[in-house]
Amino acid sequence: MSITQDHPAYDHAAAYDAVRHVIPEIEWAMYAEDIEAIHRLKREQDAVILAHNYMTPEVFHGVADIRGDSLALAREAQHVEAGTIVLAGVHFMAETAKLLNPAKRVLLPDLRSGCSLAESITSADIAALRAQHPGAPVVTYVNTSAAVKAASDICCTSGNAVEVIRSLGVDKVIMIPDQYLARNIAALTGVEVVTHPGACEVHERFTPLDIVDIRQGHPGVTVLAHPECPPEVVAEADFAGSTADMQRYVETQRPAKVALITECSMSDNIAADHPDLEFVRPCNLCPHMKRNTLGAIRTALETGGPEIQVDPAVAEPARRAIDKMLAVK
Ligand code: 13P
Ligand code: SF4
Repeated sequence: MSITQDHPAYDHAAAYDAVRHVIPEIEWAMYAEDIEAIHRLKREQDAVILAHNYMTPEVFHGVADIRGDSLALAREAQHVEAGTIVLAGVHFMAETAKLLNPAKRVLLPDLRSGCSLAESITSADIAALRAQHPGAPVVTYVNTSAAVKAASDICCTSGNAVEVIRSLGVDKVIMIPDQYLARNIAALTGVEVVTHPGACEVHERFTPLDIVDIRQGHPGVTVLAHPECPPEVVAEADFAGSTADMQRYVETQRPAKVALITECSMSDNIAADHPDLEFVRPCNLCPHMKRNTLGAIRTALETGGPEIQVDPAVAEPARRAIDKMLAVK
C-alpha cells in the first residue's frame, strides 16, 4: 500500500460527528481555527500526520491521517509518499519513521517528547549485558534510541514481542529495556529472559489494587491491560495486549463495560467510535505524548521543524534491527 497526500476538503462542523461522544460541542468549536489551519497546511506542505493511539481526541480524530500503535505507525511510515511526515507521538517513533523512510522530512512537534524507557538505557548497557550473557540475542523494544537499536539483534513492540522471541528459536534472550514487558513475555513464551531495570512511567504506576477497586465499583467490567504494566497487574486483568490489541478486543468482543489499564486518551479515542459501550476510565497521563497539542502540530507545519535526523553512524544497523522485526510480524 502507498500513502499519498489526499486531503479532502475539511468541514469542521461535519467532523464533529466523529468525536461528539467524547468532546463537548463548545470545546470542539474552540479547536476550529487550529484544526482548519492544520488541514490547510497539510495540503500546502505535502504532509501527512501519523498519530499514536495516546493522542488526545482532537488530534487523533481531528487531524490525523494514519493512527495506530507503535507497530502500525512503523509499518505505515514505510509507505508514506507525501514529502513530510508529522509524527504525533514521541521521539523514538519519529526516529523509527525516519529510519524506515529516510527520504522524507520527519517532524516531531515537540523535541521534548521523550520516553522513560528510551531514557533508561544506552548502547553501553547492552554491551555490558552481552558480556555477562554471551551468545544470548538482544531483543530491543522499539521504545529506545536509534543508537540502542543499532546495538541490538532485533526489535520488537508490545504487539509482536511473543512472535519475535519465538522466531529466534533460543532458550535465553536479553530483552531490554522494559523489565515488566520482559517478564510478561517470558511468562507467555517460557523463554528465559534477562532484562534491564527500565519501566514506562505511565504503566508502572498501576497496581493490582487499582483493578480490584475497578471490579468492585463496576461489577461485570472487562479489564484490558497494557503489557508495560507490572506482571501483578497483568495477572489481575482479563486480557493484555498492545494498544492496537486492546482496540481489536473492544471491536470484536464488544464488552458492555470495559476498563483500559493504560494511558488516558486511549479510552477516549476508542469510546468516540463506540458510544454504546461503557468505558471505565482509570487514567495515567503520559506527559511526553501530551506535548503533541494542536498548537504544536500547527507550528511544526508552519515552521518545518523540529526535524528529526538520525546519526548516519547508527542508521543502518538500527534499520536492520527494525526490518528484522517487521519481517516476523
Ligand atoms: P503500543 O502502542 O505499541 O502498545 O505502545 C504503547 C506505548 O506506550 C508507546 O509509547
Ligand atoms: Fe514512554 Fe510510557 Fe509515555 Fe509510552 S506511555 S511514551 S512507554 S513513557
